[in-house]
Amino acid sequence: MEISGAKALVTGGSEGIGRAIAEALVAAGAEVAINARRRDVLDETAAAIGALALPGDVSVEADAIACVRAFVARFGRIDILVNNAGVGYHAPLVDVERARFDALLAVNVTGAMLMAREAARHFIRQRSGHLVNISSTSGLKGDAGATAYAASKFALRGMTECWRAELRRHDVRVMLVNPSEVLTGFSAKAGGRQQASAKKLRPKEIADAVLGALRIDDRGFIPELSVFATNPF
Ligand SMILES: NC(=O)c1ccc[n+]([C@@H]2O[C@H](COP(=O)([O-])OP(=O)(O)OC[C@H]3O[C@@H](n4cnc5c(N)ncnc54)[C@H](OP(=O)(O)O)[C@@H]3O)[C@@H](O)[C@H]2O)c1
Repeated sequence: MEISGAKALVTGGSEGIGRAIAEALVAAGAEVAINARRRDVLDETAAAIGALALPGDVSVEADAIACVRAFVARFGRIDILVNNAGVGYHAPLVDVERARFDALLAVNVTGAMLMAREAARHFIRQRSGHLVNISSTSGLKGDAGATAYAASKFALRGMTECWRAELRRHDVRVMLVNPSEVLTGFSAKAGGRQQASAKKLRPKEIADAVLGALRIDDRGFIPELSVFATNPF
């Protein structure tokens, strides 16, 4: 696809991987809106990168509907949805708290579905659209302490296959991106500790992968790609 001039919405675009993707899309000439819950951080990022701020919580159905509606009202159509908003929760099975498990699934699974649903209605009408779901290598392989997070990313991978099966015949491309560990504020928010290293992935590598996948001609698509650090050890 031609990214220049495309209208792109990035959820969780105020920080980390989403911000890097939004920034790369703006640099490539797209018209971009970013969504996130905390208004102050969102507004600051939107002003810094030249994007429109659309505040809201993807797990709240009314917010998801309003976000896509406001986007289309502003730009006239929606070409790209990057379903990136996500949260973590690290706990061994015996300590998993039901409320935190449910809250994580509400964002990573239900939120992604709501945003995709709203965008897909436009994609079908337009007979064109590009949906990029940001999953994780935790959606490919479970690990100790990752019950909630891995469940959510395995679910996102499954939903991606369903949406692809439905939307392909409408000329809509549905792609999945699985980053390995990336240096962002994500782990700290999830109660974990992240060891910084010049060898670990930065959000930029994920943004480069997403733009590369979007750039190939619409007649083809990359269903899924994983991004690993070459030597993070
Ligand atoms: N960092 C990693 O190592 C890594 C690896 C693989 C995959 N991922 C995935 O990559 C995505 C981005 O992660 P990141 O590392 O960039 O995280 P991050 O730095 O914590 O950024 C997360 C972004 O999502 C927003 N967000 C969170 N909950 C939201 C909600 N309910 N509605 C709307 N926005 C919401 C946050 O803003 P607010 O809090 O203000 O809403 C923020 O903009 C996630 O899906 C994550 O699972 C991350």
